Amino acid sequence: MKNIRVNTEPSYMVEIGAGTFDLVGEFVRTLRPDATKVAVVSDDNVAQLWAGPLEQKLREAGLEVVHFVIRSSENEKTFLNYYALIDFLAAQEMNRSDILMALGGGKVGDLVGFAAATYFRGIPLVMLPTSLLAMVDAAIGGKTGIDLPSGKGVVGTFYEPIAVFCDINTLDTLPQQCFVEGCAEVLKYGIIGDSRLFYQVVSQGCSFDRELIVAKSVSLKAKYVVQDERDYGARRVLNLGHTVGHAIERCSGYTVSHGFAVAMGLGVMARVGAAHGVCSTDCAAEIEAALAAVGLPNRSPYSLSELMPFLLRDKKRVGDNIDLIVPEKIGRCRTVTIPVENIGEYLYPGF
Ligand code: GLY
Repeated sequence: MKNIRVNTEPSYMVEIGAGTFDLVGEFVRTLRPDATKVAVVSDDNVAQLWAGPLEQKLREAGLEVVHFVIRSSENEKTFLNYYALIDFLAAQEMNRSDILMALGGGKVGDLVGFAAATYFRGIPLVMLPTSLLAMVDAAIGGKTGIDLPSGKGVVGTFYEPIAVFCDINTLDTLPQQCFVEGCAEVLKYGIIGDSRLFYQVVSQGCSFDRELIVAKSVSLKAKYVVQDERDYGARRVLNLGHTVGHAIERCSGYTVSHGFAVAMGLGVMARVGAAHGVCSTDCAAEIEAALAAVGLPNRSPYSLSELMPFLLRDKKRVGDNIDLIVPEKIGRCRTVTIPVENIGEYLYPGF
């Protein structure tokens, strides 16, 4: 098992290993002795696989457990699900010393995190991510939120959990495509800050040591989050591949998944980097090959002109400029600030 402390204020531990869900009950009793009740929230897929054993352990630790199940759908982060959840918490008379647990993928984590941040102006939150993508990205760093019909990532908070448990066993029940999607974020971490991590994935493909790779990814994410919790500076390097990736997701009407869209964005930024002399053509080819090796796409299915309206509405746009994260070499990236009117010209070689 590996433990990583995320040194935000307050700080919290991320416990990574096979069977870590068995430790959640005892942990909660120690860290929050006043807690009597736990609400476990998951979607129906995850609930039938993982809620039973988890809740058994929580009860053995002397906690009262209530369970809220969200119907699995393309988007679980709706206002209606948020409303139903906080209404449930109120009906259960959950109070500020009780605990909310998000058991599931990134969308469940975002929704439950937002409920935890806003119910009674904040109740303790434990993240129990069950997908690779949620373990290495969504569950770490305190971003929570729900989506509106008009846009994603518009309503949300920064709200850190009191702990995160990544039970590597849950990856065994993850559909292969979901696992591969998480590999896009893992490769991203390698490109921005850890060449060894990148080459480990390149050499081992999807059969890498999951505990080790999740731990390395979480450490890197924690490093950037701690420097810039509110996402105004250093944390933005985590956006590598995401400006183009988000545009692809939106252009597809969200039929292209986040992980696949990020992979396409990484491929685009590798070619852009090489075309502008920020990285070598060999480096760009390595990134393209690494994505392909784990079964990820590295090209956009949409032309630059199709993506342009979505690129111009990027939420990280600041005034008339947009910051793009461009690879310099495997393990290092650079922020390039582009006037919005030049973004098409700059990105063109990536398509
Ligand atoms: N997913 C990027 C971030 O948390 O900043």
